[in-house]
Amino acid sequence: MATSGQVHSTPTEKVDASQFDAGLQMPDKLIYLDHNATTPVAPEVLDAMMPYLTSEWGNPSSSCNFGAKLKRVIETARAQVAELIGAHATEIIFTSCATESNNAAIHATLKATGKQHIVTSLTEHSSVLNCCRAWEQEDVRVTYLPVDRDGLLNLGDLEEAITDQTAVVSLMWANNETGVLFPVKAIGEICRARGVFVHCDTVQATGKVEIDVRKVPVDYLSITGHKFNAPKALVHFTCGGKRRSCP
Ligand SMILES: Cc1ncc(COP(=O)(O)O)c(C=O)c1O
Repeated sequence: MATSGQVHSTPTEKVDASQFDAGLQMPDKLIYLDHNATTPVAPEVLDAMMPYLTSEWGNPSSSCNFGAKLKRVIETARAQVAELIGAHATEIIFTSCATESNNAAIHATLKATGKQHIVTSLTEHSSVLNCCRAWEQEDVRVTYLPVDRDGLLNLGDLEEAITDQTAVVSLMWANNETGVLFPVKAIGEICRARGVFVHCDTVQATGKVEIDVRKVPVDYLSITGHKFNAPKALVHFTCGGKRRSCP
C-alpha cells in the first residue's frame, strides 16, 4: 500500500532491503507488482509523445497544415499498432479504452447481424459482463459459459451454446484475475465453422503472449495501452477487418 512520500521504483532500481525493518515498517520505496492492473509510462513512450503534448498540438482533422501534419503521425502510430498484432493499419480503430472497445465490438456484431444472442463466459472482465447485462435489458439473450476449477472452458459447452441467433462469441485471451489462457485459436475455429463473429478481449495477453491475427481467427480484438507502458486513455483500439464494422 502506498503512503505519502513513497515513490515508484523502476524495474532496474535497487531497493535497500534494510528499509523493510523486519516487515514492521513500510519501505521508503514502493515496489509495484500489479502490472496487470496498470503500468507506468515508459520513458521512451513519453519522449515520443512529448512533441505532441507541447509544440505540435494541432487538430489532425483540420485542413490547415499545422493540424494536418498530425494526421500523418496518427497514421504512423496506427501502422505500428497493426504490426504489433499482424493486422492491417485499416483494421485499427483507436478508442478511449478497452472498456469502450469491448462495448463497441459487441454492439457492432449485434447491429451487423440483427441477431439477438451473445455467448460469453462467467469469468470475463466486468466491462464485458456489464455490457452483456445491459444488452439483456434490451431483450438480447446472453449465455454465460461456466469454467472448471482450473478456470478453463469446456469447448463442448461453447459448441452447444451457439445457435442460429448467435451474433457474437466474446471470450478473453488471458484472465485478469487468474492469468488462465483461453484457447482462442480453437474458439475462433469453432465460431468460423458456425459463421459467428468472435470478439476477444486481449487486454491481459498483449505483450505477454504472441498475438497474430493472421494465425488466429478473430473478428474483433480489444487491447489497452496502459497495460504495457503507454499512458491511460491513449493507444487503445479495437481491430476490425473488411467484413467487420464498428458503430
Ligand atoms: C481483461 C480486461 N479487460 C478490459 C479491461 C478494461 O481496460 P480499460 O482500463 O482500458 O478500460 C481490463 C482492465 O483492467 C482488463 O483487465
